[in-house]
Amino acid sequence: MLFSRFAIWPALLAGLVCLGAGPVVRADEASITVDLAHPGGPVSPTLYGIFFEEINHAGDGGLYAEMVRNRSFEDAQGLSSWSVVSDGAATAKLALNTDSPLNSRNPRSLKLETSGTGTGRAGVANSGYWGMAVTKGHSYALSLYARREGAGPDTLVATLESPSGDVLAKGRVSGVGTEWKQFSCKLAAKEGAADARLVISPTTDGAVLLDQASLFPKRTWKGRENGLRRDLGNLVADLAPAFVRFPGGCFVEGDQLANASRWKESVGDPAARPGHWNLWGYRSTDGLGYHEFLQMCEDLGSEPLFVINCGMAHGGVVPMDQLEPWVQDALDALEYALGPVTSTWGAQRARNGHPKPFALRYMEIGNENGWGDTLPLYEERYARFYDAIKAIYPSVKLVANVPVSNRPMDLVDDHYYNSPEWFAGSVGRYDKQDRKGPRIYVGEYAVTSGCGQGNLRAALAEAAFMMGLERNSDIIEMASYAPLFVNVADRKWNPDAIVFDSATSFGTPSYHVQKLFARNRPDLLLP
Ligand code: AHR
Repeated sequence: MLFSRFAIWPALLAGLVCLGAGPVVRADEASITVDLAHPGGPVSPTLYGIFFEEINHAGDGGLYAEMVRNRSFEDAQGLSSWSVVSDGAATAKLALNTDSPLNSRNPRSLKLETSGTGTGRAGVANSGYWGMAVTKGHSYALSLYARREGAGPDTLVATLESPSGDVLAKGRVSGVGTEWKQFSCKLAAKEGAADARLVISPTTDGAVLLDQASLFPKRTWKGRENGLRRDLGNLVADLAPAFVRFPGGCFVEGDQLANASRWKESVGDPAARPGHWNLWGYRSTDGLGYHEFLQMCEDLGSEPLFVINCGMAHGGVVPMDQLEPWVQDALDALEYALGPVTSTWGAQRARNGHPKPFALRYMEIGNENGWGDTLPLYEERYARFYDAIKAIYPSVKLVANVPVSNRPMDLVDDHYYNSPEWFAGSVGRYDKQDRKGPRIYVGEYAVTSGCGQGNLRAALAEAAFMMGLERNSDIIEMASYAPLFVNVADRKWNPDAIVFDSATSFGTPSYHVQKLFARNRPDLLLP
C-alpha cells in the first residue's frame, strides 16, 4: 500500500499520469528509487488528525444526534421549527412563555393551549433539522419537561409522522402536574421516512408548558447518551484521526465576546446549558459540549486538542485587567480533564459520568488571533495564558495561533485555503523550515477554489501538499483538513470533507485522501 502510494503521487505531479484530456501514460511506467540503506527520521505519529468546528450545522443538526431543533425554545426567532397542528375542529395556540422558567439558564418555554380536543387533534410539531430521518425498526428516545396550568391536560401523545401524515411511531406520557417534571418514552418506528416530524398533542383541553423537548435515536455512535449520529461517527472513525481539534475555528472567537465559546456553559445537564449565538448564522445548543468532545476523543482513541478563547473575538478584545476569568477558564478546563476527583472540576467530571481523567495533552490559545497589526494584543494575552498554564501543567503542549516572540511556543498553527495550483506547488513549502523553531501544526488547509463542492483535482492537490507535510514531519507534528462537515441545507463554507443531510452522508474526494493518508501513515521516511 505504502509503495503504491509513493509510486503514484510523484508520477501524477510530474504529469506522467494524465487524468482527463491528453495522452494517457500508465502509472507503472514511472520509476522511483527508494534508498533503504539510509533511512530518515520517523513520521510524526500524530500527523493526521481532524478539526471539528460547529459550522455548516456540523454539530447541531449533524454529528450531535439530537433530532429536535430549537428544543429549548431559546432560538432568536422564538418558535422557529415549531408549528401548530390542528385536525378537525380542534385548535392549538402557541406562545413563548417566560413566567415560569425551567431553570435560570433556560428561561423560555412553550405554552401550548388546546381546545376542541374531543373532536380532533391539536398540538405542536417540530420539523427537526430539515426533516427528521426515521428508520423502520429503530427506536427513538423522547424526553421533555412539562407542567400544566390549572386543570390543563395531564397526558401528551407523541408521534413521529411522515409528510403525508402516516404515523411511524407513537408513545405517550401521563401524570403531567402543575410543577415542572421530566417525562420520557420510547418511540418505536414501524415504518420509516427521511423527512418526518415530531408531533406532541395533549389528549384534553387547556394549557400546558413544554421545555427541552428532545428526541435521540437509541442507536447513537458507541451507544452514548446525549451522543453522536451513528453514520457520521463512523465516517469520523474511519479517518483514524490521531487527534481531534475542537470546537473551532471562528466559532471559538465569536462575532462578539458575548458570543465567544465558553466551555463551562457546555457541560452538565443539557437542559441547563444556555446555548449561544454562533457566528456561522445559527444558535448553538452546546449539547455537543466539552465533556462530549473529550468522550468522543476517548472513544476514537484520538488526542484531544482543545481550543480556548484567549479573550479575543472578531469584534472585541477583553482588556488585560479583565482577562483573569478567561485565563481561569483555561486552567479549569485542564482541571476538568486532568484533575483528580477530589478537585473542584475533576469532581464535576466525575458527576458528569467520567471519574477517570481524560488524556488532554494539547491546548490551543485562541484561533487566528493576532494576525496583522493585532499581533501585540495576541502576544500579551498568549503570555498570560502561557505563564498560568505552564506553572500548573508544564507538560501540556500549548499551540500559538500565530508566531509570537515573547514566550515559547510548543507548536504554532498554520492555516492555508487556496487553489489546487497553490497546493500542488507548495509540496516543498516546509523543506527549508528552520528546524530550531517551534514545531508546526497545520491546523486548517483545503483547496477552496476551482473545486466545485469537492472534487478529485482538489483532493490530488491536497495529497501532493500532504506528501510535503509527511516528508517534513520531523518539524510538522500535526495537520488537519478543514472544515470537516457540511449539512447540505446550510452550506456556509465550501468545500468540506463530509457531506450529509438528515438521512444520508458521504465523503468527498478530499475525505478519501485524508483517510488514505491517515490509514497508511509510514513509520519512517526513506529517501
Ligand atoms: O474552517 C473555516 C474557518 O476558516 C475557521 O473557522 C477559521 O479558523 C478559518 O478562518
